[in-house]
Amino acid sequence: MGPINVHEFEEVAKRKLHKLAYDFIAGGTEEEYTLRANRTAYGRWFLVPRFMRDVTNIDTSATVFGSKVPFPFFIAPTGGKNLVIRNADETVAEAALETNTVLCSGTGVNKILEEGKPLIWWSNTIGSPNKQSAQGYAKRIEDQGGKAIVLTIDNAYQSNRDRNNRNRFDYGYMQTGIPKDGEKLPPPRNPARAAMWQPHTPNLNWDWIDWVRGASRIPIIVKGVLHPADAAMAVERGASAISVSNHGGRQLDGAIGSLDALPECVEAVGGRIPVFMDGGIRRGQDILKALALGAKGVLLGRAPLWGLAAFGQPGVKRVLELLGMELKLAMALAGVRNLGEIDRTMIRRV
Ligand SMILES: Cc1cc2nc3c(=O)[nH]c(=O)nc-3n(C[C@H](O)[C@H](O)[C@H](O)COP(=O)(O)O)c2cc1C
Repeated sequence: MGPINVHEFEEVAKRKLHKLAYDFIAGGTEEEYTLRANRTAYGRWFLVPRFMRDVTNIDTSATVFGSKVPFPFFIAPTGGKNLVIRNADETVAEAALETNTVLCSGTGVNKILEEGKPLIWWSNTIGSPNKQSAQGYAKRIEDQGGKAIVLTIDNAYQSNRDRNNRNRFDYGYMQTGIPKDGEKLPPPRNPARAAMWQPHTPNLNWDWIDWVRGASRIPIIVKGVLHPADAAMAVERGASAISVSNHGGRQLDGAIGSLDALPECVEAVGGRIPVFMDGGIRRGQDILKALALGAKGVLLGRAPLWGLAAFGQPGVKRVLELLGMELKLAMALAGVRNLGEIDRTMIRRV
């Protein structure tokens, strides 16, 4: 029998992947406190179901920036998929297209767009250093049919990832893939330990949103918010949505788990824009808990990657279907028939 849940997809993926690739994907930073906090948070929040409601029909569909999708989850941006298989970005994009799932991606969508297929696609960026390039980027994405820009704000510097340091992981492998077993690893050109402190966007600030807003109305989703003051600031500076996230425990170790950060951020936003979240989602009930705490949708990072590593494109689809099915069943058993019926009264922190 094949994997029956996302954890078992991860086990298959672990057996199939090179250790360097598995550690790169599975790992977090330093002590991995935040990586673990993302998961353990779900075990502290409990659902309080309602009964005696007719739950014959359950509607899990959501509408996001004008696009109707079957489930309130989206594929998170994940760089370095080529460590898993060649053309990984395109493979995941095909799976997103076939399941009508929103894809956040930096790359891999060109072929599908050229063929004019109806992929719902959000572009991911870590921000551009000046107004001209920020505006040029936004216009390009709009012209290509991107439905939103996901601005990742928690990536100022390359973080300190012990697993990669120990493995002498080379960031060049993210482009080339990992040399086959038996091949001698070339000496790392950009070893993880040396890449630590490498600046990505140390000077990124809220002006970036003003720059883009000056040239385009494309929705901007600010990804990586944890502090309620930043959540409020995102609204004030013109963001269209936020995602409460700690980058899957891959940036600041010791940062609060995403689900635990969610309620205060939802309160700070006060319903003015949608709040999404990501981090640690491995079950349909995890999604239901995030929605009960006020999220309008969630992003899936590692879960689709485990499907990809285990069985390629069918594996990605299977993981998405599995999470959809688990969510639908959790909603039925909790007595909610559509996303509109999910609210804060059905969850407690214990
Ligand atoms: C291998 C990998 C690469 C990632 N690359 C990016 C990236 O390029 N940009 C980004 O905003 N987030 C990136 N993330 C973070 C995810 O978008 C997301 O926030 C996180 O994975 C959610 O946690 P989960 O993996 O527990 O679902 C990456 C995550 C992983 C696992």
